[in-house]
Amino acid sequence: MKYLLIPVLIFLSCDSSPEKTSNELKANMILSEMTLDEKIGQMAQINITVIAKGPSKWKSSYPLAIDPKRAKKAIKDFKIGSIINTINGKALKPGNWRESISKIQNFAIDSTRAKIPVIYGIDGIHGATYAEGATMFPQQINIAASWNKQNAYNMAKVIAYETRAIGIPWNFSPILDLGIDPRFPRQFETFGEDPLLVGTLSRSMIRGFQGDKNDTSNKFNVASCLKHFVGYQAVISGKDRTPAYIPDNVLSEYHIEPFKEAIKDGAKTVMISSGLINGIPVHANYELIIKTLREKLGFEGVILSDWEDINKLHTRDKVAKNKKEAIKIAINSGIDMSMIPYDYEQFCRFLIELVKEGEVSLKRIDDAVLRILKLKFDLGLFDYPITDFNSYKDFGSKKHNELAYKAASESITLLKNKNDILPLKNNPSILVTGPNANTMRGLNGAWTYSWQGNLADEFAFDYNTIYESVSNTFGSSNVKLIPGVAYNEEGSYFEMKELNIKKVVDEGRKSDIILLCIGENSYTEKPGDLNDLNIHKLQSKLARELIKTGKPIILIINSGRPRLITDLEPFMDGIINIYLPGNHGGDALADILSGKVNPSGKLPYTYPAFPNSLLTYYYKPSEIQNNNQGAYDYVGEVKNLYDFGYGLSYSKFSYSNLSTNRKVYESLSDTIQINVELRNTSKVDGYEVVQLYSSDLFAEITPDVKRLRDFKRIFIKSGESRSINFSLPINSLGYYNNRNEKVVEKGEFSILVNNLSRNVLIK
Ligand code: BGC
Repeated sequence: MKYLLIPVLIFLSCDSSPEKTSNELKANMILSEMTLDEKIGQMAQINITVIAKGPSKWKSSYPLAIDPKRAKKAIKDFKIGSIINTINGKALKPGNWRESISKIQNFAIDSTRAKIPVIYGIDGIHGATYAEGATMFPQQINIAASWNKQNAYNMAKVIAYETRAIGIPWNFSPILDLGIDPRFPRQFETFGEDPLLVGTLSRSMIRGFQGDKNDTSNKFNVASCLKHFVGYQAVISGKDRTPAYIPDNVLSEYHIEPFKEAIKDGAKTVMISSGLINGIPVHANYELIIKTLREKLGFEGVILSDWEDINKLHTRDKVAKNKKEAIKIAINSGIDMSMIPYDYEQFCRFLIELVKEGEVSLKRIDDAVLRILKLKFDLGLFDYPITDFNSYKDFGSKKHNELAYKAASESITLLKNKNDILPLKNNPSILVTGPNANTMRGLNGAWTYSWQGNLADEFAFDYNTIYESVSNTFGSSNVKLIPGVAYNEEGSYFEMKELNIKKVVDEGRKSDIILLCIGENSYTEKPGDLNDLNIHKLQSKLARELIKTGKPIILIINSGRPRLITDLEPFMDGIINIYLPGNHGGDALADILSGKVNPSGKLPYTYPAFPNSLLTYYYKPSEIQNNNQGAYDYVGEVKNLYDFGYGLSYSKFSYSNLSTNRKVYESLSDTIQINVELRNTSKVDGYEVVQLYSSDLFAEITPDVKRLRDFKRIFIKSGESRSINFSLPINSLGYYNNRNEKVVEKGEFSILVNNLSRNVLIK
């Protein structure tokens, strides 16, 4: 017998009711037979190190081996229902995963009364992070720069496949946070600063994870986890897990909006933000979790805490006077499952006490456990608690890697191309230099075979660094590598050391082209907090010395956030932002340098010029204030290095004839039909991302200068003209007023495409 009440379940499985209801019924049946401690165990999630062999609950011996005594205590005695993560933040071989998870599932099913399989969760952020040999796509920020939904879908589909292949059915992705702060150490994990882009691409990822028919019991699909609800990256200090101050209408308009559709699409789980909004830790925010996420947005799945965040209500945020009160606040605020992840005894004991004392109702517990059990049914875990690796022949395959290459090549963004220096001509001799010239760690960023990405060079050895790809493409006799400066591999990732700048300069003088690869080392979360957005001083020293050679320099920016390069920009002949393009980033870049690939990426964030001017493109008009009426003339301006949506191509495009089907619209339920002519005026075929914006000219709340409303990525041949259409429903022009109601105000709007605009009136 696999679980309680099997006769009833056999009966139910013959039932013709929809799967959703039938899984709910099955979950309910099990729930009705469970004891309180069994229920509490389901709400507890622990780190794998807690039941692994090794010196402590924080550190395990490698590879992973389940410690029977520790497993018995957690799974049998405390009935823990969920496990996460890898050991020591490091990738394991697929066989090691499968064998370990099989042991866990057998243990959960054979040795417990309720026989409920464990749900294993993991962070597959741009690939199956912790599986040796897994395919690594570019990070989400690159997928956003490609402005191509298909890349988001492909990435999620491959991650789902390769995650299930190692026996894991639940992935903590996608990230729906708005990447609005270039200082924040997780901006690269987002789809950038725009809510529409974030929402659109997230939905494609959910489809990729959960399947086109949202069938998570299919053994190639996983449950997605929308994170981090909500407002996580909108902090004052720019540092991870620090306070944000966000008015309700701003929260609704920008931060909650992307979650809305994702929830409608059936995303199975949501992770709560580790941050605080208006002084209230989100884990303690009943209004946000129950009133907004559950009731207003109608989310029916499992709500998961982030790492140790229930404890932190006491230890960090001081809103609970002890750990028991922290549990009471969080569970009553709507958290269903606690990512504890170490001290599970305490969590289970305190929560049992709280229920017995009437401080947490049994109804709340049942509500949480029902959702968790239903998720386990939805994932098919009762039928096959572990998958068979032999059915996953495409794990790490050529086919998967080609999709990762495609996403990388479509994301790379050409920012400057003085005198069309690119693509490179006449087989030049090239000096490849800079700290990012020869590292897989730099190309991939964090969540790459290890949490911080620091092991990428060991695990991704078979893939090409920038230097290796450039050398393969342009010929090893033409290409020289001298990094000049390097990152410290220990301690702070931001410290650098000088190797030999003079040698670089001497070689630079002898080369036709200098490829200067700068940026950042990999990082995420707190270790990635930053005090200075400027590019590291040793990197600018290297650049300044190279500028003196008078040789053409192509600057390659390889970083998780836009570090400031304003002083260097005028002296560069070409600038290419490759963000964090993954294992195939080197090859994709080399193909762009050679002209095999025509660049088509566009910035998914504003590239700032100055440290005191960090605005998204949707700022308020008062950012620009001029005075020329007296003695104190001044000109207000918003100065970015490059604007949101910007990116060059080897093709040249021109826009003309922007038109709307009418000038005046009588009803809010109307749709504005927009047309614009796009022409490729160059000799090169290419992709252009046509971006549609609108401006509300006057509104009760000061409107943003403009907002992205739609986009299309179009292939257009040399000399060809295309007519591009958009349908813009008038109700999508709404905003949240200061009563936090979504309204569309009548009046005049501008419709903007590229350098063209046209006004319409909504009556
Ligand atoms: C991160 C989450 C992640 C979780 C589990 C946390 O520290 O904030 O994004 O899913 O750890 O690894």
